[in-house]
Amino acid sequence: MDRIRLVGGNELRGEISISGAKNAALPLMIASLLTDEPLVLHNVPRLADVKQLERILENHGVDIAVHGRRRGEEEGVGQRMTFHAADIVDTTAPYDLVSKMRASFWVIGPLLARCHEARVSLPGGCAIGTRPVDLFLYGLKQLGAEIDIDEGYVVARAPKGGLVGATVSFPKVSVGATHTILMAASLARGTTIIENAAQEPEITNVAECLVAMGAKISGIGTRTLTVEGVEKLHGATVEVIPDRIETGTFAMAAAMTGGDVLLRGARSEHLQAALDILAQTGTELSHEANGIRVRRNGNGIQPVDVDTDPFPGFPTDLQAQFMALMTMSSGVSEIRETIFENRYMHVAELARFGADIAVNGQVATVTGRPQLKGAQVMATDLRASVSLVIAGLAAKGETVVNRIYHLDRGFERLEDKLSRCGAEIERLAG
Ligand code: EPZ
Repeated sequence: MDRIRLVGGNELRGEISISGAKNAALPLMIASLLTDEPLVLHNVPRLADVKQLERILENHGVDIAVHGRRRGEEEGVGQRMTFHAADIVDTTAPYDLVSKMRASFWVIGPLLARCHEARVSLPGGCAIGTRPVDLFLYGLKQLGAEIDIDEGYVVARAPKGGLVGATVSFPKVSVGATHTILMAASLARGTTIIENAAQEPEITNVAECLVAMGAKISGIGTRTLTVEGVEKLHGATVEVIPDRIETGTFAMAAAMTGGDVLLRGARSEHLQAALDILAQTGTELSHEANGIRVRRNGNGIQPVDVDTDPFPGFPTDLQAQFMALMTMSSGVSEIRETIFENRYMHVAELARFGADIAVNGQVATVTGRPQLKGAQVMATDLRASVSLVIAGLAAKGETVVNRIYHLDRGFERLEDKLSRCGAEIERLAG
């Protein structure tokens, strides 16, 4: 299994191009199931999760093509891909494919809307908590679906004539359930109102894609989405937004090591809450025409308390990285994880660097240390893994991060991007 070796202590200086957002690319790819015409996506990141979803979509009959780089286009720019679901040949998403990635469960919405039936494996547990699917099932039932659970599969059938618009009032904000109901409602008969919808920028990216495909959606970017169902959707060409979590991750890395990094293509309005918190830690942030510049002089890192929240709050997907930063603050900070019940696996690994963190229920109390020391650590989930890389970049001496396949699920060319900014980092094969 590949490992990453790094030697900490170098400031980061230079430019990092932000890739297309994994969490936008995945649902956009799934939206291709809604039409028999091609959906062209630009700026798709090269990630293991994208590859995995390609396999799942191909199993349903989607033809996928990756286009070459255009003349003059920089190396490393996101892929241009076409997804063409002319015919859905299979409405089953099997266990061996779905169990590898939770987002693949979301195919249930478009399959049910277009084919009036779907059989999708339950995604099962995952490293960051139980992550149930009750909100998806509630929403689909509101649209008239009949749902059974059979041998680990959700078996869903639409009423004769297809799904029917309804009010779906989520008791809790869910990104995946919002994507799913939005897609399903686009092809339902009549009007659907989604209350307490997620407002993440990735939802907006998908909603705008659906509109480009002929869907009628209003309230995009707000807590209430109204969808007038249409009979058919058509092809479109859509750009994947820049990855706000990758942006925040590199911003925190620069804040922790010191230095001066331009995050090219980053959009500050997608992570304002995280940038505001970073500013309070003493990091200088400036918004430039082509991205966000992050600088820290040698004045130390101020401790700041943070609660994770749905967008526009501080994202849970940056909690581990922020915790890494706080391990070197000049005081005590409290981090409260409110989205997932078990998203602190990085705590034990950060402790291997000498970090002082105490967890009590949802709250982690981090007492900053002037210096961390490099260590052998183990990646657990995607965002936890990158928090270990950030800690290693600032720690004294050598760090080896084991089991890095988690990183490849969500970070494109991580070592390359960091080493171009002066980090001493390499991948060790085997
Ligand atoms: C999306 O997951 C992201 N994944 C996650 O990123 C992200 O952490 C999460 O949203 C929160 O922002 C993708 O976009 C592919 P949720 P999702 O449904 O949709 C509970 C990463 O590292 N819930 O918004 O699965 C759930 O257990 C990943 O890129 C129910 O109770 O998250 C959680 O506590 C990790 N019942 C809360 O809602 C349900 O039916 C929010 O989860 C569904 C969810």
